[in-house]
Amino acid sequence: MADAIIEVVGPEDLPVIAQLYNQIFRPARDLDSFKRRFRGRYNILQLVARVKDRPVGFFIGFELKPMVFFAWFYGVIPDCRRQGIASQLMEAVHSWARQNDYESLRFECHNQHRPMLHLAIALEYDIVGIRWDPDRAENLVIFEKVLN
Ligand SMILES: CC(C)(COP(=O)(O)OP(=O)(O)OC[C@H]1O[C@@H](n2cnc3c(N)ncnc32)[C@H](O)[C@@H]1OP(=O)(O)O)[C@@H](O)C(=O)NCCC(=O)NCCS
Repeated sequence: MADAIIEVVGPEDLPVIAQLYNQIFRPARDLDSFKRRFRGRYNILQLVARVKDRPVGFFIGFELKPMVFFAWFYGVIPDCRRQGIASQLMEAVHSWARQNDYESLRFECHNQHRPMLHLAIALEYDIVGIRWDPDRAENLVIFEKVLN
């Protein structure tokens, strides 16, 4: 296990998140595209996972509606996977969401993001639906976890 340090970071650390995102996902996104998505969002949460000070993983999310928190992205850089870092990030999100009075967490995942599908099932998320993503012309699987 990597035993990462999970930190809540502020808007000034968005460049660290964007850099991690661009090491993990394609197409790349610039800072403005994150800022645009955050506009008007409530309770934006940004987490960075570090191992020996090196940023190796991130989480970003925001409120979907009262009582439901939405996980927009989890990512861990390829050479640090299967060491429990995403699980640590998820546990940190669960505990932050409980402390902030959310009843459940939701996220959406494409079929090709297989490791995330496995992770969600491993952390006892339920599949609560599926929706057509017109942006990518693919289905998205909708996951939910009721917090207790
Ligand atoms: C999904 C992702 C965040 C998982 O990160 P990670 O730090 O490797 O995950 P963890 O080590 O915490 O995995 C915990 C459990 O999830 C499951 N899991 C994770 N990756 C898996 C894989 N490739 N195959 C099968 N099960 C997997 C396993 O049950 C694993 O436990 P185990 O290692 O004891 O078997 C990482 O693979 C990633 O960044 N992928 C690309 C980005 C992405 O798809 N993000 C999700 C879209 S929002």
